[in-house]
Amino acid sequence: MEDLYSRKIDYLRLSLTPRCNFKCFYCDSGSCEPLMRNELSLKEAEVIVGAAAEIGCTKVRLTGGEPLIRRDIMEVCRMVKSVPHIKTLGITTNGFYLASAVEELKASGVDLVNISLDTVDPDVFRRVTGRDALDKVLSGIARAVQTGFSAVKINAVLLRGINDDGKAVAGLAALTERYPVDLRFIELMPAAVTGKDYLRSFVSRSAVFEALPHLEKNGAGCDGEGVAEMYRLPGAPGRIGVISPMSSCFCHRCSRIRVLSDGSVRPCLLKNNEYSVKGLSFEDTVRVLKEAIRHKPQDYKDGSGATGNAGRMKRIGG
Ligand code: GTP
Ligand code: 5AD
Repeated sequence: MEDLYSRKIDYLRLSLTPRCNFKCFYCDSGSCEPLMRNELSLKEAEVIVGAAAEIGCTKVRLTGGEPLIRRDIMEVCRMVKSVPHIKTLGITTNGFYLASAVEELKASGVDLVNISLDTVDPDVFRRVTGRDALDKVLSGIARAVQTGFSAVKINAVLLRGINDDGKAVAGLAALTERYPVDLRFIELMPAAVTGKDYLRSFVSRSAVFEALPHLEKNGAGCDGEGVAEMYRLPGAPGRIGVISPMSSCFCHRCSRIRVLSDGSVRPCLLKNNEYSVKGLSFEDTVRVLKEAIRHKPQDYKDGSGATGNAGRMKRIGG
C-alpha cells in the first residue's frame, strides 16, 4: 500500500528474536529477557507475513538479534516463501552460524544474505563483538558467495577510533576485490549508544572517500532499496556502498515496515512509536499494519513522535 507521502510500502522487516550471541556495543545494551519470553511463534509469524502480503508487501527480510539462533529458522524461511505474493526473502545475520547453514537457507527459499562485519582484524573483531569469531564469519561469507544467492552484502558500521582509519577501511574494501559482494559502510545511528558517547563514536561517510580515493561511481548510484549509494574499486567484482542516514536522509525512498520479535510494529526505525499485532487475527493484523503505515512519519527528523533514543537496535533488527 501507499503511505500518506505516496511511498509504496512493499518491504517487511521481521525480527525473529532479540537474542544474539555477539555483544556489539552499538547495537546491544542490556538484557532482553522480557522480550525473549515473548518471541513470535511460527504460526504468529505466518499471520503477520500473510497480512503484510495482503497489503502489498512482496519482500521480507528476517532479522534479529541473530535470526539463525532460532531453531525453527528453516521452517520460518519456507513458510515466508510459501505465502502468496512474497517474491523475495532476505536474511540479515552476524555470520557466526552461516557457513553450515547456507545450503539449507538457499533450499528454504532465501534469496538475499546480508552479513554484519565491522572489521577484518581479529583483535578489533573481538573488541567490537565480544567473540573470537572472525574466521567463522569470513568463512560464512565465502560459503554464501559460493552458494549463489541473488545477492550477498556485508554491512560495516563506522566507529571512531575502531575501524575508521585508512588501513581498516581499505582492509574491509579489499573483500570486494576478492568476492562479488556489496560492502556497505553504515553511519552509526543513535540506538544503544546515545548522547556524548554517540558523538564520540560517530564517523561521517567522508571517512570512506578519504580512505578510498579511487572509488568509481557505479551505474544508477543506489542499491536495490535505495538505502546505499554505490561505488566500485577499479576492476573489482564487488561494489562498495555508503549508507548515511545521519549525513543525508533517504526517508523519501523508504519502502519498509518493521515488525519486532514481540509483535510490535514500528513505522520508522528511528522513531519510538509502536503498535502491536501479537496474537491478533489475520483481519486485525491487516488493520493494524495499515494503521501503522498511515502513521509513518515523512522523515525521522520531522516533529512527530520521539526521536533521539531509537531504542536498542538488537530489538528492532536494524
Ligand atoms: P537490502 O536492501 O535487501 O539489501 O536490505 P537492507 O539494506 O534494507 O537491510 P540490512 O538489514 O542489511 O540493513 C542495512 C542497514 O541499512 C540497516 O542496519 C540500517 O543501518 C540501514 N537502514 C535500513 N533501513 C533503514 C531505514 O528505514 N532508516 C534508516 N535510517 N536506516 C535504515
Ligand atoms: N547504527 C547503524 N547500524 C547499526 N546496525 C546495528 N546497530 C546499528 C547502529 N546503531 C546495523 C548492523 C546490521 C544492521 C541490520 O544494522 O550492522 O548489519
